[in-house]
Amino acid sequence: MEAYKKLLRENKAWASSKLGTDPEYFKRLADLQTPEFLWIGCSDSRVPANEITGTDPGEIFVHRNVANLVVNNDVNLLSVLDFAVNHLKVKHVIVCGHYGCGGIRASMSNLDYQPILNMWLRNIKDVYRLHRDKLDAIEEFEARADLLTELNVQEQVFNLAKTSIVQKAWRDNGYPHLHGWVYGLKDGIINPVFEMTANTALDPLYEYDDIQF
Ligand code: CO
Repeated sequence: MEAYKKLLRENKAWASSKLGTDPEYFKRLADLQTPEFLWIGCSDSRVPANEITGTDPGEIFVHRNVANLVVNNDVNLLSVLDFAVNHLKVKHVIVCGHYGCGGIRASMSNLDYQPILNMWLRNIKDVYRLHRDKLDAIEEFEARADLLTELNVQEQVFNLAKTSIVQKAWRDNGYPHLHGWVYGLKDGIINPVFEMTANTALDPLYEYDDIQF
């Protein structure tokens, strides 16, 4: 059997098993989506948001890209953020990286990954440059990559806080709570490394004091 056909067969089995335990399952989900969380994670196939957090469909609004970046001119990510914050009114936005991330490792090399990937990975190189002294002091590559992974989620949380979308929500609602987490491929455990709330001080350079909308 061709590999993709297995997916369709498993889908049917999954749908009927859901109905077996709860005949109203799909009807309920189809009528309402009220997730409390927006998850910004890595596209890596080993980090499925729902599975590792024990959540069901309907509980987490998900955006994933290579190395879980929040890039300020990424219309895709910003549309997801805008919808999640302003329409779904999520209480938490989680940026979740993972140890052993290929994107992080690639950004630490000097290889030419061709224009598109180079452009994307450049964002991580910039995070490295901001923390160069701390990172260069670590001799072992794995440990250095692990720290860069943690600093990267911290930086992406800062990037969320720099948006007028988040700043307006903080002003009007007092949320969302922003989280920077790193998942361990080796043990399945999430390490919370950073957080920001509406009360956290932001670099004044990025603060909007006249948000109109
Ligand atoms: Co990754």
